[in-house]
Amino acid sequence: MGAGTKRAPNPHHIGERTPVERRRPVGGYHPRVATCLVTGGAGFLGSHLCDELLARGHRVICVDNFETGSLANIEHIRDPERFVHLGTDIIHPYFVEEPVDFVYHLASPASPIDYLRLPLHTLKVGSYGTHHTLGLAKAKRARFLLASTSEVYGDPQQHPQSESYWGHVNPIGPRGVYDEAKRYAEALTMAYHRQQGVDTAIVRIFNTYGSRMRPHDGRAIPTFLRQALADRPLTIFGDGSQTRSFCYVSDLIRGLVALAESGCHDPVNVGNPDEYTLLELAETIRELTGSGSEIVYEALPEDDPRQRKPDISRARELLGWKPEVALRDGLQRTIDASGAKVLIG
Ligand SMILES: NC(=O)c1ccc[n+]([C@@H]2O[C@H](COP(=O)([O-])OP(=O)(O)OC[C@H]3O[C@@H](n4cnc5c(N)ncnc54)[C@H](O)[C@@H]3O)[C@@H](O)[C@H]2O)c1
Repeated sequence: MGAGTKRAPNPHHIGERTPVERRRPVGGYHPRVATCLVTGGAGFLGSHLCDELLARGHRVICVDNFETGSLANIEHIRDPERFVHLGTDIIHPYFVEEPVDFVYHLASPASPIDYLRLPLHTLKVGSYGTHHTLGLAKAKRARFLLASTSEVYGDPQQHPQSESYWGHVNPIGPRGVYDEAKRYAEALTMAYHRQQGVDTAIVRIFNTYGSRMRPHDGRAIPTFLRQALADRPLTIFGDGSQTRSFCYVSDLIRGLVALAESGCHDPVNVGNPDEYTLLELAETIRELTGSGSEIVYEALPEDDPRQRKPDISRARELLGWKPEVALRDGLQRTIDASGAKVLIG
C-alpha cells in the first residue's frame, strides 16, 4: 500500500481489517517461531525481552548502539544462530535484509538522568528513530509495538491513570523532551496504523525495576538499593509523600509479549497498581537489606509527578494480564539476581 493511499481502517471492526491484519487470526497471532527485532535490546528492559523471546523459541535481532545500554546486558546470550546484535543508531535510516515478524521498539533514553543529559538525542530517537522503525515494520509487514510510558500522562490530574486520560504535560519543562517525544511517537504510530495500515500496538509502561538497572541511573529503586547496601544515607526528593507504583521486570515483559501477540491497536497500560510513597519504598529497602542508613531529604526536581498509579482494567480485559510479583518479593529477586557488588556499582 502506497504512502498516499487514503484509507482509515477501524481497528475494532473485523470487516475492515487491514491486509496485514488479515494474515493474523482474529484475537491474536501466536507463531511458533518468529523473528523479532528489538530496538534498545541491550538496555534494561530490552535485554530481558530478548531473553524471554529466545526462551520462547524465537529468533532475535537486537538493534542497539549502547547509548544508554551495555554489552554486559546481552553478552550472556551465546546463540549466533538465533541472536544477532546490530550496533545501529536508529536516528539514521536503517534496514535489515531478512524477514521480520515482530518489531519491539524500545530504544530511547529512559531515566531522567539520561534524558536530561541527552535532550536532543531523546527527541530525535522518539521522532526520527520511531519513524525509521515504523518504516521498517511497514516494509516487513511486521507487527509493531511501541514502548511508550506513563510519562505521557505528565503530572496527572486523574488518578489512577486510564488510557483515555490525555495527560497533563509541560512541553517546555526539562522533562518535556522525553514526555513529548513519547507523545509524538504515539501519534506517529497511530498515523502509520490509520493511513498506512501498519499493524501497531502501544504499551504505556509504568515504573519497572529488576536486575540490570544501572546503580547510578537516578531512578528511585536502584538509588535506594545502592545507598542502603553501601550503608550511605538514602536520599528522598521532597518530603517522600509522593507516590509511585513499581512493576517487577518479569511481569512487565510478560505484558509486552502478550500485547504484541494480541490484535490490539489502542494504547494499553502495563504496570503494577500497588501504590507506595517514596518514604515507604525507602523504608522497605532499608529493612530488606538490613541497612542502618538514615533517610535524608532533598529538593524536589521540577515537574516531578505527585502521584502515579496505572488503571490496568484494559490489560486485564484484553490480555488477561495482571502483575504477579509483589514489591518485597521483586526487590528480593533483584538483590539476589544482581548481587550487592553490582548494585553498589
Ligand atoms: N524502565 C522503565 O521503568 C520504563 C518506564 C516507562 C517506559 N520505559 C520505556 O522502555 C524503553 C526501555 O527503557 P529501559 O529502562 O530499558 O532504558 P535503557 O536506557 O536501559 O534502554 C534503552 C536502550 O536503547 C538504546 N538506544 C538509545 N538510543 C538509541 C539509538 N539512537 N539507536 C539504537 N539504540 C539506542 C540504549 O543504548 C539502551 O540500550 C524506553 O523506550 C523507555 O522509554 C521504561
